[in-house]
Amino acid sequence: MKPTIFGPGCDSLVGEVRPPGDKSLSHRAVLFAAMSEGTTHITGVLDSEDVRATIAAVRELGAHVDLSVGPDGSLTGKVRGWGDLGPRSYDSTIDCGNSGTTARLLMGVLAGWPLEVTLVGDESLSRRPMRRVTGPLELMGARFEATPSGTLPIVVHGTAALTPIEYDSPVASAQVKSAVLLAGLRAQGCTKVTEPAASRDHTERMLPEFCVPVTRDAATHTAIVEGPAVPCAIASFAVPRDPSSAAFLVAAALLVPGSAVRLSGVSLNPTRAGFLRVLERMGASIQVVPFPEAESERSGEIDAKYTGHLSATTVTADEVPSLVDEVPILALIASQAHGETRFEGVGELRVKESDRLAAIVDGLTTLGATAEVEGDTLVVRGPAPLRGGTLDSLGDHRLAMTWAVAGLVGGAAVGVRRFEAVDVSYPNFVGDLQLLGMRR
Ligand code: S3P
Repeated sequence: MKPTIFGPGCDSLVGEVRPPGDKSLSHRAVLFAAMSEGTTHITGVLDSEDVRATIAAVRELGAHVDLSVGPDGSLTGKVRGWGDLGPRSYDSTIDCGNSGTTARLLMGVLAGWPLEVTLVGDESLSRRPMRRVTGPLELMGARFEATPSGTLPIVVHGTAALTPIEYDSPVASAQVKSAVLLAGLRAQGCTKVTEPAASRDHTERMLPEFCVPVTRDAATHTAIVEGPAVPCAIASFAVPRDPSSAAFLVAAALLVPGSAVRLSGVSLNPTRAGFLRVLERMGASIQVVPFPEAESERSGEIDAKYTGHLSATTVTADEVPSLVDEVPILALIASQAHGETRFEGVGELRVKESDRLAAIVDGLTTLGATAEVEGDTLVVRGPAPLRGGTLDSLGDHRLAMTWAVAGLVGGAAVGVRRFEAVDVSYPNFVGDLQLLGMRR
């Protein structure tokens, strides 16, 4: 398998890019529209492998999806939902691919209908923990047949007789929270989820747009829905651009001398913007200008500029849910910052698309940087000149992009094996870098 080569180094990256649609919101836009009574018009949907898994799943379950690729590469069109009738009731197998969001949110959606559906996934997804979702849904009355370790393939046995629960989640996970809330729409009464820290709140912001009220208490990280409730279709939902994808271009701008990059139309949802706050603390030149319109998901422009000076910081466990997908790229930035950067409470990274904690340490070490794990804390010391090498994405899209940026920064090229993993969330990543001036 030939690696894709990045670098050595890169001329300054300059210009404006509109990153692809937000992955979390694209899944939810398609899923909530599929659950709704009527036809919803959606724009800006991310066209990537993960979202295609959700689109294929809701089609299989009976929603009519008519989305096509627009001039900017995003998907636009209509979804006619199953509404009151519920998803189609014959036995089916749904392939969730690499997508944890597809698998976990679908379990919540299916739990409340008297169906038997088998969920399968690729090798990576089949290793990821699912009891965190099947556990609470079993308390509500659904039944699941999983492997002995609780992983996919899983047969979901839903029921029309779900009971509401008050669930104290041991993990701050938007996927767990969303699955329980979506099941709650099919239960008689109030379903309440409390988390140890605030995870991304797209489900809570979006359900009210689909006529399902959500009661929230920010202080206790609690969300409540009252069932039974059928979402209603909405005239239009515009998916903003993905801050997690933007983060790689922000990083490239901060690390490649002479760069000045503008990312426009990006979601500025505070539960996703932790990486911007951390970079500001590190002394990075970042300017954020929110767009004036008051959408449920605020978006805006991010300007990132190279200055040549970044300093270390401590990322606390409380902040982690707001930057959980950005830790690999933040770790690379930390390797170029002065001092010791600590990422506390990042144990969840072990169960992402790969064991990202081990992969970050291995990758940075291979490139000549200093990184280690102490318990659930990742420690990176910098600045370290990067010496190049060949790394494997492990089939993990965020690692593929992190190591690509490493090649642009260092004095030596970085080869990335299985670089095609970027198709999961950012198929045009290389195209956007070229737009900013990267030569290949
Ligand atoms: C997501 C939630 C996060 C995140 C994932 C997408 C979502 O996972 O890492 O990429 O769309 O809800 P957890 O909820 O498991 O932390």
